[in-house]
Amino acid sequence: MNTVSPFDLVIFGGTGDLAARKLIPALYHRHCAEQLPQQARIIALGRRNLSRDAYLEKIFEKSRAQISNNYFKKRQWKAFTSRIEYQQLDAASDADFANLAEYLRDAQERVRIFYLSTSPDLFSGICERLAHSKLVKPNSRVVLEKPLGRDLHSADLINACVESVFSEKQIYRIDHYLGKEAVQNLMALRFGNSIFEPLWSHGKIRDVQITLAEQIGVEGRGEFYDKTGTLRDMVQNHLMQLLCIVAMEPPISMDADNVRDEKLKVIRSLQRFSPKDVLANTVRGQYRAGKVDGGKVPGYLDEPGIAADSRTETFVALRARINNWRWSGVPFFLRTGKRMHEQVGEVVINFYSLPHAIFPVAEGSNGTNRLYIRLQPQESIELHLMAKQAGDRNILKPVKLDLDLTGQNERHLDAYERLLMDVVRGNQTLFVRRDELNAAWQWVEPIMKVWESSEEAPDYYDAGTSGPESARNLIARNRVRWIEDV
Ligand code: BG6
Repeated sequence: MNTVSPFDLVIFGGTGDLAARKLIPALYHRHCAEQLPQQARIIALGRRNLSRDAYLEKIFEKSRAQISNNYFKKRQWKAFTSRIEYQQLDAASDADFANLAEYLRDAQERVRIFYLSTSPDLFSGICERLAHSKLVKPNSRVVLEKPLGRDLHSADLINACVESVFSEKQIYRIDHYLGKEAVQNLMALRFGNSIFEPLWSHGKIRDVQITLAEQIGVEGRGEFYDKTGTLRDMVQNHLMQLLCIVAMEPPISMDADNVRDEKLKVIRSLQRFSPKDVLANTVRGQYRAGKVDGGKVPGYLDEPGIAADSRTETFVALRARINNWRWSGVPFFLRTGKRMHEQVGEVVINFYSLPHAIFPVAEGSNGTNRLYIRLQPQESIELHLMAKQAGDRNILKPVKLDLDLTGQNERHLDAYERLLMDVVRGNQTLFVRRDELNAAWQWVEPIMKVWESSEEAPDYYDAGTSGPESARNLIARNRVRWIEDV
C-alpha cells in the first residue's frame, strides 16, 4: 500500500452526519491499511464546546455502525483516534480561526486540507476567514461538499469567492459517486478493453437506464431536503456524473483535465429542455405513507421539518437525449427516489435485440443482451448473454457473466476512502471542475423553473413502491420498461 504524504485534514462540520458516517470510517480504514503516515492529523471543528474525548464519544456510534465487525479492532480504533483532535469553531469568529492557525503553525509545509462539510451558505465566509488568518498555503486544498448552491447564480457566487482564495488546482468539488468502485470499473471496462468500444453507440445500444433508488427517507434532514429536493440533491450531481461516465468519449489520458473535458462535452451535448419538453420528459413525485421492508413509514409531508403544503419532489424520472454522433437517438432514462421498494443503484445498458432470431428463448426473457453496472446494494458488473438451456432442445436463456474486476473476497473501498486519498495525493481526476458544475446547473435549471412555477402537485406514490405510475408511462412511450422495477 502506498503511504501518502503527511497531511492535516481540517473538517468544518466535524460533528455532522457526513463526518461521523463517512469521513471518519473512511480514514479509519485507510489507517488500518497503513496508508496514513504517522504524522497525519485530523482536526474536527464544530460549534459545540466539547473535549476531545466527548467528541470521540459523540461520533463513535455512527462511525462504528459503518465499519463491519470483521474490520473493527478496538486497538486499531484507539491508535487511529489518537490522530483526531477537536476544536470549537464558530464560522463567523476571527478568534476561532486564529486558534486554528495557532494549532497548525508547526506544519506550514504539510499538505493541508480544508474539508467544508457545512451548509454551502457558509463556504464563502469560511474561505474569506481562512485567507484572513493566513491559513492557506501553497500546499493547501479545499474540498467542497455538494450541493454547491441552489442554481447557477448561487453556485457562481460561491465559486467566485472560493476562487479568490484558492486556485482551481486547489479546489476539490466532491461527488462521491465518482469514487465508487463500480464507477471506476465502468471506466476500466470501457477504456481498458477493446471489445466494448465498437458496441458503445447508437445502432448497438437501444437505451440506457440509470436508477438510484433508496429505501431511506429524509433521515432527519427534513429542513434541508424541503429546500433542496431530489433534482438538486441527486440529479444535478450524482445522476449527471454517472451519465457522463457512460457517455463520454475516451479521454486522451486519465489526467484530470482530459477526463473532465470529455465529461463536460457530454453535459453540453445534452438536449436542452423547453418548458414544453419539461412536461413531456420529466416526472416529479412525492411519497405518501406506506410500508418499507415490512415497516410502516410516514409520508413526506409528515416528516419533521417539512412544510405542510410542500411540493418538493422526493422522486424524479426523466428522459434525456445526447445530441452527438455517438448517442444520437438513444434515450437515457434516469430515475431516483426516496422511500422506494428496494435500495438499488445501477446503470443498465440495453443492447438491441437480434435483427432475426433463429432460436426460441425461455419464458420470461426477451432475448436481449444487457450490461449491468451495480453500485448498490453490492457493487458488481454483469454482462447478460443468451446461452443454450441444458436439454435436448436449443432454447436460449440469459446467463450472467460476472465481470467483477475487483475480486470477490476483497473489500470494496468506500467512495470516500478513495476520494480522500486522491485529495492528499493532489489528483483531481474524480472531482468536478467549475465549468462542469455550471453546465450541469444550466441543464437542470429549465426543469427547476417549470416545476417551481407550476400549480400542479407532484405525482404521489406510496412509500415502499416503485414510484409514481407516471414514471412507467414516461418510458413506455419509447416502448421500453424500467428494468427490474424497484
Ligand atoms: C447524498 C444525498 O449525496 O447521497 C443523499 O444528499 C443520498 O440524499 C446519498 O441519500 C446517497 O448516497 P449513497 O452513496 O448512499 O448512494
